[in-house]
Formats: sequence, structure tokens, C-alpha cells
Amino acid sequence: MRVDIITIFPDYFGAVFDYGIVRRAGAGGLVEIKAHDLRGWTTDKHRMVDDRPFGGGDGMVLKPEPIFAAVESLTGARQAQELAGTGVRVVLLSPQGRVFDQKVAGELAGAKQIVLICGRYEGVDERVVETLVTDEISIGDYVLSGGEPAAAVVVDAIVRLLPGALGSETSASNDSFSDGLLDFPHYTRPPEFRGSRAPEVLLGGNHSEIARWRRRRALLKTRRNRPDLLECAALSEAERAWLAEEEPEIFRDE
Ligand code: ADE
Repeated sequence: MRVDIITIFPDYFGAVFDYGIVRRAGAGGLVEIKAHDLRGWTTDKHRMVDDRPFGGGDGMVLKPEPIFAAVESLTGARQAQELAGTGVRVVLLSPQGRVFDQKVAGELAGAKQIVLICGRYEGVDERVVETLVTDEISIGDYVLSGGEPAAAVVVDAIVRLLPGALGSETSASNDSFSDGLLDFPHYTRPPEFRGSRAPEVLLGGNHSEIARWRRRRALLKTRRNRPDLLECAALSEAERAWLAEEEPEIFRDE
């Protein structure tokens, strides 16, 4: 996969992809990530990337011309329509986008090339949204000073889903959200730490008991921290019944 990031702060990405799984995926040739300076596509002497908003108001708006030129030079396409069926996605990071989640990450992980446009200032000229981007994505209901941290988040979540990026093929399918639930709790040595013992079932080596315990703990954690996820998660009738009986905050050891 190729990832091109269009930003006015290319140095922001200097080290974020140099660690862990993303670095390994880059070194192994699974992904090539490049940050490009939007100013490189300006044509005026002041290299202007932004301008005052029509209609008045605070802040500045990123101009369309350099962004269109950047996407055209990176993809060969002048508008989103031309990209249908090509495996190329042009993503604008903005708080107005659809909310990024594991499902969207999985969808984008199938792309051949992803161009990420980092918004800035008050926003981006809406013609970019109307005709150039295939996806407008937000990483959550809060406002960042720019799309750069959001781009880093999106790239990380996508790259770890590329086949071969993780040490074990099963690791990604065990992640939180992959089955619509949060992950179960994890413990490691020592078995006892400051008076608190790791659950006995995990120390015992009975794998079917461990699997049952993990599933139940995932259900309880999801109900406690993200009850909204339970509505869509694939639960058996028996699990729903068990969850309905189980007392809210009591985590019994089994
Ligand atoms: N730019 C500013 N806020 C953002 C957000 N929440 N997600 C993506 N891009 C952004």
C-alpha cells in the first residue's frame, strides 16, 4: 500500500511512523508512507495555501487550487469520480467527517493507495469535499488544531491490518472491536502484585475455561464502558440472557 499525506507541516510526521508495527511494515515493504508539503503545489510567490472565508468570519480557509494540484499529481485524477474502482482513496481529515472506527479502518486497509489531506485553520474549501475526496473522516467528536494527528491515527490503525503487519495472523482478529466487543482484560507475571491476584482461571491452563472467561469479561467490560456496542455485537441468546442476569459492576471470579 502507498500512503501519501498532504500537509502544511510535513515535519510533523518525521518520527511518528518510525516505531513498532508501522516501522516494521514500512521496512518490510508492506507500506510506503510519504508526507508532502502542500506549499510545494502553490504557484504564487508567497506560496499561499489559505485565504479569508467568503461571507466573512474568523480564521482562514485552505484554498482549493494547491490541494487539487497535489491530488492530481499523486493520483493522476482530477476528481473523485475518476477513482471509482481503482483502489485509490482520497481522504480528508476533518471534524465534519464520518467517524473513523475499526470497520472503516478495515475498509481502507483494502486500498492500493490512500491520499490523506490534513485540514487546517477554520477548514478547507468545500469544493475539495464536493468533488475531490472519496471519504471525509473524523477521528472523534472533538476538534483538533489540524488533521495531522488524525492522519497519524488513521495510518496506524490501517497499517496494522495489512496482511503480514502483525507478528501473528490471528492478532488483529483478537483486537477490541473486531467482533464488535471490547477486548478482555490481560494479565502477566507476577501472579500476585500488591495484594491483587491475577484470576486463577488464567493461571490454570484450561483453555476452554480461559476462552469462556475471556468472552464473559469482554461482554462485561463492553457493557460497563461501551454499552452502545452491545446493540450491534454478535451475541448468542444465551450470552444476552447471561448478561441480563449478571449484576452491573460485579466482576466475579469464575
Ligand atoms: N481535524 C480537526 N479535528 C479533527 C478530527 N476530530 N478528526 C479528524 N480531523 C480533524
